[in-house]
Amino acid sequence: MNAEESPERITIFDTTLRDGEQSPGASMNLPEKLRIAELLAEMGVDVIEAGFPIASNGDFEAANEIAKNVKGSIICGLARAGREDIERCAEAIKPAERNRIHTFISTSPLHMLHKLQMKPEEVLDAVIDSVSRARNFTDDVEWSCEDGSRSEADFLCRCVEAAIDAGAGTINVPDTVGYAVPDEFAALIYMLTNRVPNMDKVVISVHCHNDLGLAVANSLAAIQAGARQIECTINCLGERAGNAAMEEIVMALRTRQDKMPFTTGITTENITKASRLVSTVTGFTVQPNKAIVGANAFAHEAGIHQDGVLKLAATYEIMTPESVGLSESKLVLGKHSGSHAFREKLKELGYDLGDNAVRDIFRRFKDLADVKKEVFDEDIIALIDETLVRTNDRIKLVSLQVVCGTRTPEAVLELEIDGETQKIEATGDGPVDAAFNGVKQLFPHKARLQLYQVHAVTQGTDAQAEVTVRLDEDGKMVNGQGADTDTMVASTKAYINALNKLLVKREKTAPAALSA
Ligand code: KIV
Ligand code: ZN
Repeated sequence: MNAEESPERITIFDTTLRDGEQSPGASMNLPEKLRIAELLAEMGVDVIEAGFPIASNGDFEAANEIAKNVKGSIICGLARAGREDIERCAEAIKPAERNRIHTFISTSPLHMLHKLQMKPEEVLDAVIDSVSRARNFTDDVEWSCEDGSRSEADFLCRCVEAAIDAGAGTINVPDTVGYAVPDEFAALIYMLTNRVPNMDKVVISVHCHNDLGLAVANSLAAIQAGARQIECTINCLGERAGNAAMEEIVMALRTRQDKMPFTTGITTENITKASRLVSTVTGFTVQPNKAIVGANAFAHEAGIHQDGVLKLAATYEIMTPESVGLSESKLVLGKHSGSHAFREKLKELGYDLGDNAVRDIFRRFKDLADVKKEVFDEDIIALIDETLVRTNDRIKLVSLQVVCGTRTPEAVLELEIDGETQKIEATGDGPVDAAFNGVKQLFPHKARLQLYQVHAVTQGTDAQAEVTVRLDEDGKMVNGQGADTDTMVASTKAYINALNKLLVKREKTAPAALSA
């Protein structure tokens, strides 16, 4: 890999599909994961952590399909230190052009005593055993010391040295609970570099969580101290407050070359597209003032700023919107446009899709153009994301008719469930309630509605509504999303999407058993 050839090149290890998916509510199904992995590879991610194959059959299958289909990146799977985990992981990622096993165990006194209930010497044995075992399946093994930033220095050095001797090529130091501060975290990397005798044989990686909002700062401090691989996610997705945001790391390195002369292989122009896709798939909307990918990241409100930007963008913009793939909202073709022009538009937006997908999206574009005067690039992107990720859903919306106003709201709903179309009439306290009651009667479940949120994809009263629905069933949380010019249809799609995700999530092992 190029990254190892040049000391200035930072390897980008994306864990959106693994740690990101561990965000409460962010579960993804196979086509969704595949679509994200394809985009990550296209944008130049060096290593894609495709999942935790032992966690469920769905996780195994997704990692396996990604390994079979996604080219250009190293496909990595996560495994705890046990034999079964490593074998399952190895099997899942076997078909990849290049694969990696990422195995880990906790090394902090707190985790060893209370979580693992293992003595330090037993943990050390498990390090050697797990790395050696993983090396039987691939030459590319990464070892992580979970809760590394709260581990005791002497013991950590012994574990790292043993992992390298056993054949690890990458040593990852996680700040698992997001507790470190930048100078302390950099000192940890210096300490390992100076004290572990064989440290020069491996790539040092870091994996920072954002509990104190310091994940990106800690990652950049680690780079200054010698780390050459950064583990991160799109939109800062991840356990609790998330992982280091890939878009922030990459753009910080690109923008501040004067202070941080390092490069990545990321085509930054794909950042906005990736952010939108991950947001659509997970139902996690991006906060408007989020760095790099928030709706306001390049918007100027104050007159004095607007005036400056009009005279010279650099007065208030430290990077261009184009550099992250943000172009001005462009009006696209109207309802009379043909499929050829539409295909050209998709290419211009950076989507190279198969004939079936283009046909589906074109049909939905025509429907949209019938009801919406102006169709913008954002509308097309919302259609693409929705169409591509919904293909394997078990529950699908066929039709919806809602009556509301001063009489009792009523919904006539048709769903396709496992290939069979079913119809129902339902009432409720409002039109959304009526539609949701209909879904519940056709597909009975115990999940409770935790969040219902609507926002507009573009401006104007004919804009597409993008709805997020969060459901909770016995502590398993999922977010669903739906977009349509009709808010009731968007709401029902979002509810159905959440239920489809719940079906995926029901399969998963209890998170406590897989605390990664
Ligand atoms: O946060 C963490 O420590 C992890 C490891 C499995 C790398 O996710
Ligand atoms: Zn993590």
